[in-house]
Amino acid sequence: MSVPRPAAVIVLAAGEGTRMKSRTPKILHELCGRALVDHMLAAARGLEPERLIVVIGHERERVRAHLEVSGPDVLAVVQEEQKGTGHAVRTVLEAVGTVAGTVLVTYGDTPLLRTGTLAGLLERHAEDGNAVTVLTAEVPDPHGYGRIVRDPSGAVLAIVEEKDADPEQRAIREMNSGVYAFDGLLLADAVKRVSAANAQGEEYLTDVLSILREDGHRVGAHVAADHVEVEGVNDRVQLAFARGVLNARLLEGHMRAGVTVVDPASTWVDVDVVLGRDVVVHPGTQLQGRTTVAEGAEIGPACTLTDTVVGEGAVVRNAVCTGAEVGPEATVGPYAYLRPGAVLGRGAKAGTYVELKNARVGDGSKVPHLSYVGDATIGAGSNIGASSVFVNYDGVNKHHTTVGDHAFVGCDTMLVAPVNIGDGAYTAAGSVIDSDVPAGAIGVARGRQRNIEGWTVRKRPGTRSAQAAQRAAEAGDQQGSTSE
Ligand code: UD1
Ligand code: CA
Repeated sequence: MSVPRPAAVIVLAAGEGTRMKSRTPKILHELCGRALVDHMLAAARGLEPERLIVVIGHERERVRAHLEVSGPDVLAVVQEEQKGTGHAVRTVLEAVGTVAGTVLVTYGDTPLLRTGTLAGLLERHAEDGNAVTVLTAEVPDPHGYGRIVRDPSGAVLAIVEEKDADPEQRAIREMNSGVYAFDGLLLADAVKRVSAANAQGEEYLTDVLSILREDGHRVGAHVAADHVEVEGVNDRVQLAFARGVLNARLLEGHMRAGVTVVDPASTWVDVDVVLGRDVVVHPGTQLQGRTTVAEGAEIGPACTLTDTVVGEGAVVRNAVCTGAEVGPEATVGPYAYLRPGAVLGRGAKAGTYVELKNARVGDGSKVPHLSYVGDATIGAGSNIGASSVFVNYDGVNKHHTTVGDHAFVGCDTMLVAPVNIGDGAYTAAGSVIDSDVPAGAIGVARGRQRNIEGWTVRKRPGTRSAQAAQRAAEAGDQQGSTSE
């Protein structure tokens, strides 16, 4: 049987999430490059619901602003006061009207829930012709959860909250995940009849099950294969746990698709990261945002790549790259910092203690050691000597430097922008270049050297340096006398 498309998915997310102890609303906390609520929305979208609704309340303006960006297909419904899960659903139906068809209810804080598990619930719901089907799981420690009460034949009778449960019910290890498939018309009627006469004085959505059962409708349960999937995030310990599970899942997917992950325990990837075949990821590496790594490239150890594109066969070691583009066969690091707009051509190099920002380094060009290249265009086959700086900032404005093809910038050159170095041009080591060097010329811009003989002995008498100078002078004299 194919999975029926739900008429609506309602994601409950109005609660405060006090246990996070955070200024940030719980559902906006991030894991693997996505907010908690966006993980749930992504799983829900997999079912192609006709409507996607999120119930917001606590910090509603921040949550709404977030959703406007991350989920333009989402309808946000405000629940002014959080009077319970039943009240939240009632508020939605009052806002959008009765929804005919299947209505799936979930929470914004269960980022591990997969589309496949939700589809399994919908399938069971349709097959059994239920009025409501609840997703449940057997958990080692059901403390705090609503318990699934069944009759001796196994039929679901009710869900009893921890605070309302008797000791016998508390011993039940089958918990309510809080995810349900409802018949929309029956839900609309039943949710109005939920009372708040319970330990927490809230309208419990769970009561809809017993109401529907008492009305003579079919009430069912679908047991999730993996209880970890339905456990929500309530505090930062659970957030870290969920991040670990999700990361392991993502890495497993990459490894099965042909990526070598040397140490999964110290490798972290975001959901949108794309890795080609035979990519090798070394320990201590984080791949974030929309980072893409092409076939055969090697990343790590100790790299953090954010929104960075790495070409085939490139090697990136001990580097931090943000918004950068590393060409095929290019090499980066060890110890390099590529900032937004850094673009390395094919086979180019940004070596050790090199920082690049808004700079294009052409095919085969090299910036091997101790350099800053900002706001620049470097052609193909050029070499930027150790310790060179592209002096791009005059304290007010940033200026551009252009270096042509097969140019040779000597060590410790300061290129004071705006300035152009022509094709095949050289600069002398230690130059401060503030005017253009034409193609084929060498720019020399430094003081001439003069030596002052005997300076150390005169000015630093009695020092080890003076003694060494003295000995050198005497040895020179002796050599001079024997050769005479
Ligand atoms: C609820 C269930 C419980 C289940 C557990 C699973 C009820 C009465 N109990 O308990 O059986 O085992 O979830 O985690 O439903 N929310 C709103 N508006 C409200 C109240 C809650 O949007 O007025 C949202 C919260 O933001 C949260 C979700 O609903 O995402 C669950 O609310 P919470 O108060 O955490 O319910 P529990 O007491 O944990
Ligand atoms: Ca909860």
